[in-house]
Amino acid sequence: MTNQVALPAYHNDLDASFAEAWNLVEAGVKDRNSPAHTPTVGTIDADGTPQLRIMILRAVSRDLRTLRFHTDARSDKTAQLQQEAAASILVYNPAAKAQIRLSGRAHIAAQGDVADMAWSGSTPFARRCYMAEAAPGTPIAQPSSGLPEWIEGKQPEEEQLADYRRNFAALMFQADSIEWLYLANAGHRRARWHWDQAQNQWLGSWLVP
Ligand SMILES: Cc1cc2nc3c(=O)[nH]c(=O)nc-3n(C[C@H](O)[C@H](O)[C@H](O)COP(=O)(O)O)c2cc1C
Repeated sequence: MTNQVALPAYHNDLDASFAEAWNLVEAGVKDRNSPAHTPTVGTIDADGTPQLRIMILRAVSRDLRTLRFHTDARSDKTAQLQQEAAASILVYNPAAKAQIRLSGRAHIAAQGDVADMAWSGSTPFARRCYMAEAAPGTPIAQPSSGLPEWIEGKQPEEEQLADYRRNFAALMFQADSIEWLYLANAGHRRARWHWDQAQNQWLGSWLVP
């Protein structure tokens, strides 16, 4: 007797697979236990080497094809994106048996409404990271959080944070390609969609997994 596991409705449905891919990405904003809450974000450094790091997913717009992250304006990824906007996001959701690979372009929004709202919408504790005196990645002689000593282990007050707003930036990613890999014993499924600028829509097709 074969052990048949029920396949989801989207298994053989391209449009439903596309919707499911976005559902799984969006879950990362609402559900901190979702794997999409901590996707891998890839950029290209000055040598052309891909650089990957985990970032917290803060917002998603399926309509605008955008994902928002928060970062330190002095970080290496900021400089990398200012040189080269190409970026990728990777999510693996083991429970959903799905890998989602988004490719597109990203930019750093350090000023403006998006960054201001992202800053004021973050908890004081989260914003404490941006109080580091030297840029993230700066070599130091002794192990340290990089934060001023007076704020170590404490939650900053709103007025104490004001000076540090300049260290904060939103990282805005816009997808122009989405790749889906669904794992199933009965047969894996792979599909890719690309954003067609002229037609103003996503165009997709199945791929050999
Ligand atoms: C669970 C987790 C969540 C993280 N979230 C963020 C984040 O939201 N923003 C961020 O800039 N770095 C975040 N980091 C740190 C980055 O992975 C990375 O180490 C740091 O941003 C420096 O990257 P860069 O030198 O490429 O700029 C997170 C790391 C972990 C392990």
